[in-house]
Amino acid sequence: MALRGRKEEHVDEVEVEQAPAAVIRVLHGPNLNLLGERDPEYYGSGTLAEIEQMTASRADVLGLATEFFQTNREGELVDAVQAAGQQAQGIIINPGALTHYSRALADALAHVQVPVVEVHLSNIYARDEWRRTSVTSQHATAVIAGFRQMGYIFAVDAMSGFLSDFAAA
Ligand code: DQA
Repeated sequence: MALRGRKEEHVDEVEVEQAPAAVIRVLHGPNLNLLGERDPEYYGSGTLAEIEQMTASRADVLGLATEFFQTNREGELVDAVQAAGQQAQGIIINPGALTHYSRALADALAHVQVPVVEVHLSNIYARDEWRRTSVTSQHATAVIAGFRQMGYIFAVDAMSGFLSDFAAA
């Protein structure tokens, strides 16, 4: 699985131990590689690369590391959720159309023990009837829909809150 990510590298010349930053894995499902050219009236004009850059910057400010993955294949997204559940401290996921019908993805999310924020650029509740059902959101800690690319900023902020709550618990 090819992950694109940024992690802070620290060269410790003094004896100050720096706790490693918590890692948020940001997963994008089918057709989100087409952002920028696909239905801008719903999804805005930002490309996936721009959204990832914005998301990584916001996470940096909050002391969180980010890793990104996009796939058009259901099985690969299931694999990515399973791996993220083991390797990351939180998951932000936009499952694309798989949101509406993938029981396999829902089962994978149900098994995950880290906080999950489901993001939709568009307001799925104000669109076609079939988009109003999400089979995945019952396994998410929170859902953000309709804020276009700002939704990813809110998702990082929410994740930061969840991670500090979890750390405090
Ligand atoms: C989407 C909404 C889905 O209905 C659609 O299939 C997508 C994108 C969103 O971000 O608004 O691919 O998840």
